[in-house]
Parts: sequence; structure tokens; C-alpha cells
Amino acid sequence: MTDDRRPTPPRAPAAVRPAGMRSNSAQGAMADLDHDALVVAQRETLATPRRAYGLGARVLFALLDAIYGRGRTLSKFKVLELVARVPYQSWEQVAYIAITHTHRRPDFARRVFDQVTRSRGQEDNEQWHLLILEELIAAEGTPEPVLKFAVIPQVIAFAYYQLSWLLYVLRPQWSYRLNADFEDHAEHEYAHLVDEHPEWEERPFESAFADDYGRLASLADLFRQISYDERVHKEESLEAIHAPRFS
Ligand SMILES: [Fe+2]
Ligand SMILES: [Fe+2]
Repeated sequence: MTDDRRPTPPRAPAAVRPAGMRSNSAQGAMADLDHDALVVAQRETLATPRRAYGLGARVLFALLDAIYGRGRTLSKFKVLELVARVPYQSWEQVAYIAITHTHRRPDFARRVFDQVTRSRGQEDNEQWHLLILEELIAAEGTPEPVLKFAVIPQVIAFAYYQLSWLLYVLRPQWSYRLNADFEDHAEHEYAHLVDEHPEWEERPFESAFADDYGRLASLADLFRQISYDERVHKEESLEAIHAPRFS
């Protein structure tokens, strides 16, 4: 398994206000960052070494590279986002089973439910990433063969769900560590994606989901924000390693 003691990068300074749960909508961006803070966060990510990924994460990334290529395409990120929701769903399911059997212990049941709420917030945040990517891909008219971009991602997500679930039942730290690896990978990949597209600095972010997710000045800032979200997900999983299973 990986070294979870690696120091996590500092959070972006100034102008950082937790976005939190938006009223009447699912979790939007994980913080409201202005352009300067987003640029700082991206530079921090690029200057931070990747985690030493464990076997499960390395197999998953190799599989994705083999099927979708090593290049950073929006379609490949869409597959990443499809898979990204899965650990949160598996943790939620285990937590609901736990609640069912703990109704005689209200304090414990409350802690379990708090964890369900946190997982759902992260899952909702990943959902916005996915919807925004799907919107961009549709606008660009990029062809996506059904087998490669609908069937195979669901098969990968199903297998990843089972792995996350099993690791969580056996030892929650293992499942959190796998997710931290996944989120670290996503954080870095999005940060590099922005560097590969300087033209996105001038391209406005216009989306049917902007009110839900957050209003960003450009496509470059959108992907900087998503990268930052992935960092928050990673840090939450690393924190959970030290306070596992509903504590
Ligand atoms: Fe994501
Ligand atoms: Fe994430």
C-alpha cells in the first residue's frame, strides 16, 4: 500500500471561501477561488510529487491508458469522472447497512449518517464534473463509440465499485488510500491539462450547470477549479485514513 504520510500540499491562500452545500442543489465547487488563487493552486499541484500509487490504482491507470491512450482528452476525463463517483457510492452503501443495524445507538447512527452526508457531497461534486465534461464534449461534437465510451466505462466502474466496497469492508483505510491515489492522479492530470491548452485562458466557461457548480471566468479556470476539487477529495480521504469507519 502507499505512503499516506506524504505531506499534503498547502491549500491555496487568500480568497478561499468554502463553497459548502449550496441551497436547493447538490455540492458545487469545493471552494470559491478567484483566478489568482486558482493559478496558485494549479502551480502548487504541479510542484507537488504524485503519491506513490498502490497496486490497485496503478492497474486502473494502466488500464485506462491502454484503452483510451496516454493523451489528455476530454473523453478520457469523462471516463475518469464516471469511475470517480464509485467509491463514494460504495461507502454510502456500507454506511446505510451500518445504520440499519445501529438504530439502538443513536450517537453512532448519527456519526454514520454524517459520513453518508460527506460522501454524498463528494459524489455530487463529481457528478457536476461529469455533466460539465459531457456538455463540452457534446458541444465539440467529438465522436464517442458506444462500446468504448459507454459500455467499457460501466464495466470498469462496476469492478472498481466492488474493489472499493471490499476494501472498505475489510479495512476502510485501504479503500480511502485507493481513493486518495485516484484523486491525486485526477488533480495532477487536470493541472497538466490546463497547461496543455493556453488557448483556454481566453475561452469563456458557459454552461447550463454554471449556477450549480460555480461561475468561472474561463475554461482554464474551470479545469483549475476541478483540479482543486480533486485535491480536496484527496485530502478528505487522507484525513479519513486516520479516523476510519464512522468515528
Ligand atoms: Fe472529479
Ligand atoms: Fe474527485
